[in-house]
Amino acid sequence: MRRLAIYGGKPLKGELTVQGSKNAALPILAATLLSAEPCRVCNCPDLTDVHTAFQILEGLGARVDYNGFEAQISSANIRTPEICDALMCKMRSSVFFLGAMLSRFGKAKIGYPGGCALGARPIDLHIKAMEQLGVTFQEEAGTITATLSRFRQGTVRLAFPSVGATENLLLLCAISKGETVILNPAKEPEIVDLQNFLNGMGAKIQGAGSDVIRIQGVHKLHGCSYRVMPDRVVAATYASATVACGGETLLRQTNPEHLTSFLEVLKRTGAEVDAQKAQLRIVMKERPYSVGMVKTLPYPGFPTDMQPLLMAALLQAKGTTVFYETIFENRLRHVADFQRMGADIAADGQIATVTGVGQLHGAKVRASDLRGGAALAIAGLSACGYTEIGDIGHIERGYVHLEEQLRLLGGDVALIED
Ligand code: EPZ
Repeated sequence: MRRLAIYGGKPLKGELTVQGSKNAALPILAATLLSAEPCRVCNCPDLTDVHTAFQILEGLGARVDYNGFEAQISSANIRTPEICDALMCKMRSSVFFLGAMLSRFGKAKIGYPGGCALGARPIDLHIKAMEQLGVTFQEEAGTITATLSRFRQGTVRLAFPSVGATENLLLLCAISKGETVILNPAKEPEIVDLQNFLNGMGAKIQGAGSDVIRIQGVHKLHGCSYRVMPDRVVAATYASATVACGGETLLRQTNPEHLTSFLEVLKRTGAEVDAQKAQLRIVMKERPYSVGMVKTLPYPGFPTDMQPLLMAALLQAKGTTVFYETIFENRLRHVADFQRMGADIAADGQIATVTGVGQLHGAKVRASDLRGGAALAIAGLSACGYTEIGDIGHIERGYVHLEEQLRLLGGDVALIED
């Protein structure tokens, strides 16, 4: 079993280069299915979820070569529009292949996607929007068969700005007849990255990142070469660790513009934030201040993915911070582990009230999901003594060698494999 061993209680000092974004890379990998010509995806992070996407592509008949964070994918010989359940349930992002396969074959056969257990996570918004565009769905014993006989162009309004549903619509509509308009789309930077990748393949999509996305369907897409954006959640992880432990860190290859709402809150903790074009310096000289209320919202609001990270940073803050998680109904599972480390948190439904304690102590804890697991590493670094984190498979879905990166920042962190 693989675990992380952390000896905490020291300030951080160091610098690192932030990895490519998992949540941008995954829909982009699905998009490579849309052309028979090869695509090159650079800055593609070496993560278990990314390897699951490769396995899905290979299972469909694509050829994947991955070396040095660069994936070459050729979808010339795709044989089947069907993904086996064992791969579907490994991650939530397997659902992107629904839009991509419908676009390429007019047909897709999939099971329900898996992913971090953050709540019910249905795919009803994906299905409803696709139905409006002419896709029919049949479900039998957990297998969904989707068929697109005739694409119906038009306007689709999402009842909630779902990230995955917006991306699936881009994948479905890039090759189509006429214009499709998406109202109330999600505006996350990863959607802009997918739009840019698809436009690099010859698609005509505009408006990602705004309130309206317009897709002028094209007949065919070609191959392209693209560099995935930096991972904003990973950057927020190292920034939060700096606030939790104190010290000074430099995060290279990051885009501070993607972190606006997070950095606004971080400054309120007393951190000095120097945001340059593609790098971020965080200096924390004192015990952090609490920040009042943090409510997670769709982008550009405070991101749900950063809620556990910021909470970890404020466990020893002066005063009380209230976290209100509005995106997922079950995203406070890290609270119980923080409490095991001596944190003072009152949790009620989707609200956690954190009163900073003078000192956390190390403990044996388990990662219950990806960002919650990374948040335990932050808490472990700032706690006095030894922390051991089990179930780190969750963390490895989104962080390339977290232990090595934290060591670059001066953290005493080791990977235990036995
Ligand atoms: C994406 O998940 C991210 N995953 C998540 O990151 C992130 O937490 C989330 O967006 C919100 O920002 C990827 O990009 C691969 P949603 P997604 O559809 O697309 C409900 C991480 O840690 N909903 O915007 O699944 C849903 O249940 C991960 O990297 C429906 O009800 O998020 C949730 O409550 C975890 N019906 C809310 O909307 C639907 O059909 C937001 O979900 C779809 C979603």
